[in-house]
Amino acid sequence: MPITYDKKKKIFTLNTKNSTYQFMIDDYKNLLHLYYGRKSNGIMKNFLIERARSFSGVFDDEHEGHSLDYLPQEFPVQGTGDFRSPLLIVRDENGTFGCNLTYINHTIRDGKYRLNGLPAAYENSGDDAKTLEIILYNNRLDLSVKILYGVLPELDIITRSAIIFNNSSRKITIEKIQSACLDFTHGKFDVINFQGRHAMERQFERRELLHGSTVIESRRGMSSHQNNPLVILSDHDATENSGRCWAMMFVYSGEFKAEISRDQYDQTRFQMGLSDEKFSYVLDPDKKMTVPEVIMTFSASGFEKISHNLHDCIRKNICRGFWRDRARPVVLNSWEAFYFGISGAKLLDMAKHAKNLGVDMLVIDDGWFLNRNDELHALGDWTPDENKLGMNLETLVKEINAIGLDVGLWLEPEMVSEDSNLYREHPDWAFVIPNEVPLKSRHQLVLDLSNRKVRKYILDFIFEILDSSNIKYLKWDYNRSISEVYSHAAKNQGKVLYEYILGLYEILDKINAKYPEILIEGCSGGGGRFDAGMMYYTPQIWCSDNTDAIDRLYIQHGTSFGYPASVTAAHVSVCPNHQNGRITPLPTRGIVAMTGAFGYELDPAKLSNDEQLEIQAQISRYKSLRKIITDGFYYRLSNPFSENFCAWEYISRDRRKFLLNVVILRCHGNMPEFYVTPRGLKPGKFYRNVNDGEIYASDALMDSGFALPMPKRDFESYTYLFEIV
Ligand code: DGJ
Repeated sequence: MPITYDKKKKIFTLNTKNSTYQFMIDDYKNLLHLYYGRKSNGIMKNFLIERARSFSGVFDDEHEGHSLDYLPQEFPVQGTGDFRSPLLIVRDENGTFGCNLTYINHTIRDGKYRLNGLPAAYENSGDDAKTLEIILYNNRLDLSVKILYGVLPELDIITRSAIIFNNSSRKITIEKIQSACLDFTHGKFDVINFQGRHAMERQFERRELLHGSTVIESRRGMSSHQNNPLVILSDHDATENSGRCWAMMFVYSGEFKAEISRDQYDQTRFQMGLSDEKFSYVLDPDKKMTVPEVIMTFSASGFEKISHNLHDCIRKNICRGFWRDRARPVVLNSWEAFYFGISGAKLLDMAKHAKNLGVDMLVIDDGWFLNRNDELHALGDWTPDENKLGMNLETLVKEINAIGLDVGLWLEPEMVSEDSNLYREHPDWAFVIPNEVPLKSRHQLVLDLSNRKVRKYILDFIFEILDSSNIKYLKWDYNRSISEVYSHAAKNQGKVLYEYILGLYEILDKINAKYPEILIEGCSGGGGRFDAGMMYYTPQIWCSDNTDAIDRLYIQHGTSFGYPASVTAAHVSVCPNHQNGRITPLPTRGIVAMTGAFGYELDPAKLSNDEQLEIQAQISRYKSLRKIITDGFYYRLSNPFSENFCAWEYISRDRRKFLLNVVILRCHGNMPEFYVTPRGLKPGKFYRNVNDGEIYASDALMDSGFALPMPKRDFESYTYLFEIV
């Protein structure tokens, strides 16, 4: 049973295929966490050790060992004598902090809960999903919190969320609310996070957890290039395929905070949710607030299983709609080919070449609308520049269609340039604090999506474009962080950032509802909003503005810990690379970009004959392998930070075909041989290397590896398809 309640012992148990999660109601009606680990039938109450400790507050003098200062908790709240980091901090009308929440009742029901206005993992038929709702209550404030657990047993996923209700006739201010907390009574752990910067996102980083707090967060109004809302806690000695690991992934695209702390008694708390900076949510009488979801998963066998669980969940239970299971088009994007210098003639010429190469879609990137010849102007005024395009957008799209290509269009709907009619007409629609000089980033300001009128404006112009032109794809860009938060339309500024994200989701939902077959690719200066929240609306995201194959190896290595290839957009570009000047072989660029949603970012008119032939071959190879890449299991076979090559594998879901990719990082004199060891093959079987027909025993391959040729130059690459015999 995925969720059970032992009435006598007051214990809740949540079971997935390979994990068990358990907590209980104590004598004071607090929820105490017991266990999240390997699947087990037991009652794990033995982890609760009650011992009287100095400086620890108790509810009952007779029961001195029972203090929330150190007992593991399920939903820690500030003001209960737990001095660790809480999930919830509230203040009453007088500003008094604190509120103890105690158990009132619970419901277990079939199906997975959904959240109003927010993305959340959903169930498919056959998932046997269940929901547990528990009502906690504080009498003084007349405040109740419904905490929500979703169980997707086959996927080994447990989700958490909550809804806060103000039942009273007074205002209550929520100063902090987070979604999930895992308390560990003992253990030595490492924290794994994915840090970075623009054009160098999601770099794997691992550190030992010491006393105090490790905080992984975004304060940028977006999930950010700097820290991804995926954090893994692991046994200190965990590897790709051994050791226990726990992951939390936030299904939200705004600011977040994950905190992992080790306390005075060497206990660990792992929590995740909304950032509490710039957050002070006034909850009016009779109102409620919905808390974004955190997806959790446990693996008893290393990071690889964590990744497989998260990939499956994102692929089938986060991504939605027409494109979820469909082969995505191979695109040619105009950005690195022409930047702002696009024109109708160039695009048509590009389309002709692209058709010959086997490309499915031409994406018209930035620069297609009036006055948009650089970064300084025109965001917000979405009128096509007919002079530049040589005709109206509708006709241009028709002409490209006539060549045999679909058309995609770049938009950055959340932004406004100071030099725009929109800003001149509605200066109050941008996040600008009155009497402060607005901070510009990429010369632009952020529109206030918490304002209904702004949302309507955005939807109206997008509907107009989509109604008049045969656009099949939108690249939804977002190119600055939010520094000032001020909404002219809001009563309370402390919830504006949260309502901005709700506004963004509402817009995306309405576009998806009206045009269900439109493919929206998320983008934020590359991968600045590469999160499960966006993936609910945009089933693929531009992984990074860095198209260099070698930097991409590291970016995609980190990305792969949480996110499947199907959501990861990657393109081949020219050399020397525009971001770092590196020169890499075209086959290597192809192998690296064939990691999900594939495409090109170059002017095909400038390709040599050999390059054209190579690209034609790449596209047809990609199309023949696309299913294994986007639907298969993904294995990281090397650590590019410590090894001299980067190797990864995709294996089909029936494990009958696998693709082995290797890129050599540095070539040296007289090098030792390279071996790469695939994983996840069917034991006791034989696989044929399709390249040369050679047959290999699966167990020997998984034991001693596969010998690679001796590289002759830096960045050489190899790709092998194996099929079961
Ligand atoms: C940032 C994106 O990541 C790029 O791919 C490109 O679309 C530019 N914006 C256009 O301004």
